[in-house]
Amino acid sequence: MANIRFYHDAVPLEMHKAKIVQHIHLLPIEKRVEANRKAGNNAHLLRNEDVFLDMLTDSGVNAMSDQQLAAMMVADDAYAGSASYFRLEEKVREIFEMAYFLPAHQGRACEHLLSKVFVKPGMTVPMNYHFTTTKSHIELAGGQVKELVIEEGIKPESTCAFKGNMDIQKLQDLLQRTGSQNIPFVRIESGTNLIGGQPVSLENMRQVSQICKDNNIKLVLDASLLADNLYFMKVREPLCLDMPIKDIIREVGKCFDIVYFSARKLTCSRGGGICLRSREDYQLIRDLIPLYEGFPTYGGISVREIEAMAVGLEETLDLDIISQGPIFIEEMTKLLMEQQVPMVTPAGGLGVHIDCARFAPHIPQKEYPAGAVACALYLAGGIRGTERGTLSQDRTQSGEEEPADMELLRLALPRRVFTLSQVKYAVDRIGWLYENRELIGGLRFVDEPSVLRFFFGRLESVDAWQPRLVEKFRKDFGDSL
Ligand code: F0G
Repeated sequence: MANIRFYHDAVPLEMHKAKIVQHIHLLPIEKRVEANRKAGNNAHLLRNEDVFLDMLTDSGVNAMSDQQLAAMMVADDAYAGSASYFRLEEKVREIFEMAYFLPAHQGRACEHLLSKVFVKPGMTVPMNYHFTTTKSHIELAGGQVKELVIEEGIKPESTCAFKGNMDIQKLQDLLQRTGSQNIPFVRIESGTNLIGGQPVSLENMRQVSQICKDNNIKLVLDASLLADNLYFMKVREPLCLDMPIKDIIREVGKCFDIVYFSARKLTCSRGGGICLRSREDYQLIRDLIPLYEGFPTYGGISVREIEAMAVGLEETLDLDIISQGPIFIEEMTKLLMEQQVPMVTPAGGLGVHIDCARFAPHIPQKEYPAGAVACALYLAGGIRGTERGTLSQDRTQSGEEEPADMELLRLALPRRVFTLSQVKYAVDRIGWLYENRELIGGLRFVDEPSVLRFFFGRLESVDAWQPRLVEKFRKDFGDSL
């Protein structure tokens, strides 16, 4: 947001205007109950037409810019050697100063390729924090994940500006204990998705980078949420305060051997990509692209998306553009805290994160408190969020539940999609739900997939808490929606 002063109260002010809109509908609560039942109490299985505010994710649903749409119209359709690919490759070189670029159909496809090429059975990948698909791909390749985020990172309430930072001492201790031969790469995710979209500082990236260089280990960046992270570096990190975003992103790039991203998030388009420094790494991955993705100049996505990605990357250099998400998230977090709703603080990127361990402390972790609050919020307001807690975690190999570090309900704010009045509606319904939180009960699986169970799993209420919640809604809201 530009440096605009307000005479009265400041609000997060958008530096864009809507040109195309989509009509959305709020179903009556009785229909929401029915839709939730059909979806097996799992927001991923709801039909979008039954949702009023879709805050499930920012992935593939950020609003694109007119410049991106215009670029898509001049895409060069070709199986091999498309000019669109070379434009994107050039942009990657300019932005991350990396010599090579390989497109893939989305972020997890990059993770699949990186795991397939570098991770061998018995290996360990140290990282600040895992992401669901990252962990699954590393484990499928026979490896394991070792999380080294600073302790502050998994405390819901904090004043730490960079809760996604890696604990340098823990990394050094690990290397001292195990040596580096069983470590295919170290991974930094910035910002960190599962712990509240929390950023990593440039200083921390530099420290990790030095350790990796000293030990001859590759350092990989998951840049899916880098746009938010760049904003936080710019406004929170003394080192970056006077640096243009373009310089910050270059300094970030210098720390890494490989940068990959979900373009569904980073560039408000679709697809994904891997940027590489070494020719050897490039060749290893390039040879797999025709098998799993498509020819390396289109990577399983349309060349139109490749054009949109190039423009989206350029747009991440604009503070007006990358600040919109974080300032809306900060405002929504503030409004919710005014209603006493327990939140992850400081506000991070991607979305607001409700701390369901404190929102619904009467629901044990094995009954998925954050999943239960997600259901209750859909019933209360037609708002769809994502559980980021024990439900999003698969069982251990011996079949035990693995309680998550935090029980979060994430309400994503896809960039440039929702208005402040929609945010205020959501705050109003969450505030109501918080006042009635003792009516919310737990969930249990009736159909539980063994991998990434949160996508397709079906659940039921442990008791008849949903009719009680609906009855209270009708008492307080009457016949209205
Ligand atoms: N890495 C991070 C940090 C992510 O947040 C995601 C996706 C991926 C990798 C995978 O990328 O979806 O393009 O395959 N996160 C989405 C979310 C799904 O809703 O948080 P993808």
